[in-house]
Amino acid sequence: MKLIIGSKEDVSAQAAQRYVELLGKKPDAVLGLATGSTPLALYAELARLCAEGKVSFARAKSYNLDEYIGLDGSHDQSYRYFMDHNLFQHIDIKPENTHVPSGFVKDDEEAARYDAEIDAAGGIDLQLLGIGNNGHIGFNEPLTPFTSVTHIVKLTDSTREANKRFFSSLDEVPTHAVTMGIHTVMKARSIMLLAFGEGKAEIIKKTVQGRPDTAVPASLLQLHEDVTLYLDEAAASKLS
Ligand code: F6R
Repeated sequence: MKLIIGSKEDVSAQAAQRYVELLGKKPDAVLGLATGSTPLALYAELARLCAEGKVSFARAKSYNLDEYIGLDGSHDQSYRYFMDHNLFQHIDIKPENTHVPSGFVKDDEEAARYDAEIDAAGGIDLQLLGIGNNGHIGFNEPLTPFTSVTHIVKLTDSTREANKRFFSSLDEVPTHAVTMGIHTVMKARSIMLLAFGEGKAEIIKKTVQGRPDTAVPASLLQLHEDVTLYLDEAAASKLS
């Protein structure tokens, strides 16, 4: 794993340069994208670079990691809504080239078609990840099998509780989500994981210095040959 440590603004800008390089070489690259608070500075930087003509997503395709079951793109807590408002509307990507897993898949067989779609598009060139406090990547909670492809997950009580703040009540927080699996993520040619803040320090230590183990899904990234972690000083503070 390669580590890049600096201020959140600096490392987000360095992460943004990865898109400039990749899309410069391969304008029709396939991008794996994430939601959450972590990529917001990166997305703002990509919007700025695109407005200045330094990068173009006009031929790129994107595939997001996950979505809540039962929410459609008009719901302001859906991940489709998040992506439209925080990135897609601010860059030149074609709406029809953006993909977020459907929150209306009925079973894992239907969910797994997302992997087939990604494969048909040529596979993900650059996968962006955040990390949960328990090491989850996407909605792949601890003990998700290494071989998992896109599938439906039951959200843990703690995840629903953590996400309650975005909804008017706990009852409104979806009980399930659909997520790329660990195998889906590991197939990407290149992976970038961003983490900021002291709250991520302990899990970053386990991710980088622990033994790769499904108990900490992000630690499995050690088994991938091209992974870069972009960390602020606080998130890197427990690394020895
Ligand atoms: C988002 C996702 C999650 C988040 C993680 C960190 O699509 O799949 O794994 O990356 O929960 O969330 P934030 O960035 O809000 O700390």
